[in-house]
Amino acid sequence: MSKPENFLVSCDIGTTKICVLIGEQNANGSLDVIGKGSSANRGTRKGNIVNVDATIEAIKRAAEEAEIMAGVQIARAWVGVSGSNVRSFNSRGVVAVAGKDREITKEDVVRVIDAARGVQIPQDHEVIHVIPRDFAVDGQDGVADPVGMVGARLEADVHVVTAPVAVTQNIVTCANKAGIEVVQLVLEQFAAAEAVLTTDEKELGIGLVDIGGGTTEVAIYHRGSIAHTAVIPIGGDHFTNDLAVVLRAPITDAERLKKKFGSAMTSAVGEDEMVEVPMVGGRAPKLCPRTTLSEILQPRAEELLGLVREDLVRLGLEKEIRSGIVLTGGGAELEGIVEVAEGIFEGPVRRGVPAGVGGLVDVVSRPEWATATGLLLYGHRNKAGPSESEAAVPMPSTG
Ligand SMILES: Nc1ncnc2c1ncn2[C@@H]1O[C@H](COP(=O)(O)OP(=O)(O)OP(=O)(O)O)[C@@H](O)[C@H]1O
Ligand SMILES: [Mg+2]
Repeated sequence: MSKPENFLVSCDIGTTKICVLIGEQNANGSLDVIGKGSSANRGTRKGNIVNVDATIEAIKRAAEEAEIMAGVQIARAWVGVSGSNVRSFNSRGVVAVAGKDREITKEDVVRVIDAARGVQIPQDHEVIHVIPRDFAVDGQDGVADPVGMVGARLEADVHVVTAPVAVTQNIVTCANKAGIEVVQLVLEQFAAAEAVLTTDEKELGIGLVDIGGGTTEVAIYHRGSIAHTAVIPIGGDHFTNDLAVVLRAPITDAERLKKKFGSAMTSAVGEDEMVEVPMVGGRAPKLCPRTTLSEILQPRAEELLGLVREDLVRLGLEKEIRSGIVLTGGGAELEGIVEVAEGIFEGPVRRGVPAGVGGLVDVVSRPEWATATGLLLYGHRNKAGPSESEAAVPMPSTG
């Protein structure tokens, strides 16, 4: 049995479900998935916890399932934070280099990042991430690591992510009451990016679009670092709702029909294909052409992806995403959505399936596991020391 410090745990509190993964660092230093649990969650709306008890129960169920599979007990986890109330912006800080010989030290870098984050943030918010994007020494920008360089003036461009204290406290409280200590809260886009984007894509410029149940989370990478993050309050559940309303079908049936027969590209659906649609109120089901489903889903897909594009155009970023777009999250599984996105972004689009882990790869190799897998990878790559990483302990022997 592995040492406790070799285990890592992630917890993704999504609008539709909670995902818990347990990873183990193997002898090569890379990460194997050894446990997975998921449970339906009704305690979250648009990424914000609205029912604490329901969320605690759902975390417990997912954690137990993962513990049984892995044969370890979860102690602490890397937990995702997202939602329509998360804010992010770019900021710049400037300091004078302290040392007599003007050689830039680690302390100068810490100071300049502090200066950049010292901007006004909303009073009820707390800072989740401060990510250095670029440094400049004496006005010369494009410096990736200024330590050891000589100069008088050091500047830093950083990306700051903040969330309302109430949102982060709810997450931490729910995790704690489910018996899990939070190692660190991580913005869900950053986590998903760890699992589905390549270094080359981030260098050349790429847009990550994570279509969840209640929200769609966007992250734009350019020159290897984060350039922009955003949340759009539309997700896959809105697609289901549209189907339910227009077809007058119960939500659960609309959800099933969407996954099995839905398409976001009407032109790709055969005109003579028919689908049986159950009716609300126990009325007799009716037969309806599959194209009717896609005629409802396509405008929703176009609206959602159009909003993502509008945001990029507003910020002048649409030309910077030379590697195109990666769609991930459960909503990215909708048939035809990649083709719709190609039309809207006029560039390459692919589905992002988690990569970079070993072990039970097949259990996480779907877009809806991108955030949970990415949280594990984020934890693995950013782990500070053993005290932060004793995420699970072997189960006490029962024999
Ligand atoms: N095969 C499929 N076809 C179409 N949609 C799908 C498919 N599989 C899952 N979805 C949709 O994906 C959505 C859930 O995605 P995901 O699990 O990534 O969301 P979440 O993380 O719970 O939510 P959020 O990120 O908004 O908090 C649901 O709306 C679901 O209907
Ligand atoms: Mg999600």
